[in-house]
Order: sequence, then C-alpha cells, then structure tokens
Amino acid sequence: MMGNRISFKRNMALTLSLFLTISGIYAQTEDKEFTPQSGQAGKDVVWVPTPQALVDTMLAMAKVTAADYVIDLGSGDGRLVITAAKRGAKALGIEYNPDMVELARRHAKEAGVSAKATFKQADIFESDFSQATVITLFLLTELNLKLRPTILEMKPGTRIVANSFNMGDWEPDLTTHIDEPSSWTTAHLWIVPAKVDGTWKFDNGEIKFNQTFQEITGTLTAGDQEIELSGKLNGDKISFNAGGTEYTGTVNGNKMSGKSGGNKAWKASR
Ligand SMILES: C[S@@+](CC[C@H](N)C(=O)[O-])C[C@H]1O[C@@H](n2cnc3c(N)ncnc32)[C@H](O)[C@@H]1O
Repeated sequence: MMGNRISFKRNMALTLSLFLTISGIYAQTEDKEFTPQSGQAGKDVVWVPTPQALVDTMLAMAKVTAADYVIDLGSGDGRLVITAAKRGAKALGIEYNPDMVELARRHAKEAGVSAKATFKQADIFESDFSQATVITLFLLTELNLKLRPTILEMKPGTRIVANSFNMGDWEPDLTTHIDEPSSWTTAHLWIVPAKVDGTWKFDNGEIKFNQTFQEITGTLTAGDQEIELSGKLNGDKISFNAGGTEYTGTVNGNKMSGKSGGNKAWKASR
C-alpha cells in the first residue's frame, strides 16, 4: 500500500516536472523573435530589403506628402511604409508572409508611426489597392507586368515607383540612380496617364490621338488643314505640339481644355 502511494507521488512529480519542462521550451520558442533572412522565399518573389537610401529616393521621386495614401505591394519588413508614414502620409503594406507582417508592425510601433503605417497579410494579386495615390514596388518585371493592367486603370496622376525592375514597354517618366555600395541603386517612376486615345471634337475641328501610355501622336484638323501633332501626358496634364503651336491643358474624363500658343483658350470633348 505504502509502496503504491510513493510511486503515485513519484509519477505525479515526474509528470509535473515534464509538463513544466515542455511548457518552458514552448514559451522559449514563442518568445524568440522572428529574424528575416535576405533572400528568404516569398510567395512570388523572395524578400530582399530596399536599401534605406533608395527608399528615401523612391518616396522623394513620388513627391510623397501628408496628402498621400501610399501602398507598398509586398511590404517585407515595412521600411517603405514606415518611411512614407514618417513623411506624414497614410501608408499600407500588403505582405503575404505573416511573420513579416508581424515584424513590420513591430517596426512601425518602434518608430512611433503605428497610427499611419498599417500592414495587411494578403496576396497582392487578390488585393484592392485602387485607392492609393502612390504605389511602391520591389518585385520582378514579370510581376510588375501582371499588375500593369490594374495600375493603368488607376486614377490619372497616381505615381508608381519601383526599385530596379521595369514595366516592359511602358517607359518610366523618371529614372534615378543613387551612389551606394549595393546591388539596388536604381528607381523608376511612372505616372498613370489619362486616357485620350481616339477622336475628339476640337473647337471648330477635330483631334485624333494615338496614345501609347504617356506618349501621344495624331492629327489636328481645322478647316481643310490637317496638322500632325505629338506630345505627352503627365497624369491628367496634356501637352502637345501641332504645326509649331504648343498646346497645354487638363483632361477631365471626356473633356479637356487649356491654352495654346501662350494664352489662347482651347477645348475638346468626345
Ligand atoms: C523584394 S521584397 C521587397 C520588400 C519591401 N517592399 C522593400 O522594398 O524593402 C518582396 C516582398 O514581397 C513579398 N511577396 C511575394 N509575393 C507576394 C504576394 N503574392 N503577395 C504579397 N506579398 C508577396 C515577399 O514576401 C517579400 O517580402
């Protein structure tokens, strides 16, 4: 009887100490902070951080201010989002890896910008980022190209700024190189152009625009005169030269208006 009671007590003590050991190990594992490794696998592209100097350059190229809503697609450790928030912007990072999302939230808290810099665990290809005024990217050209049709439907004037990788035949509006000992020293900026392709009624004539992204060519017809034109779009701002006369204006859906040859008013609609 006595022997049984002792072995019962021993069993209880052993079970308790095993329980304490296991829960101790578990607590240690839980407490261990996730440390990302540059080059670690990601859903569609690995994680490599943008050097801080290029982060600053990218946000400066996009002229990010407190009026902006910046979304970083594939936000990694959160540095683009946090830096945008430090410039006063509202900023969101969309990141597939939940450990990176937690890490980025921790970094935002440490930087004191949690109210403006938020993070969402999601697949960028299943996310709605249409409300952004600035999109930042450090993906691959093939992924930029997959996003391109959606980006081109965004509000004219939306700025897209990418670390290194391009958008295929959509030429950047601006490219900047920084002098840093890094593999990642180039940033590209694109400004979503208004859509003007097609035929417009123009004052007493007609304009035909052929649009390739921000580039425009075409003809301006007034009376029996047909004049070739070429020019550019910068968001909703249009400028073109037709027969030596400079036209500048603003596009607003199916209307555009502006000044030609200095201060002569013109307008077009479709
Ligand atoms: C090259 S890193 C760039 C990180 C950050 N934007 C920067 O510039 O420092 C790309 C990030 O995209 C994430 N990613 C890859 N595929 C993704 C997807 N389909 N949806 C969301 N995030 C993704 C990776 O986990 C990684 O953190």
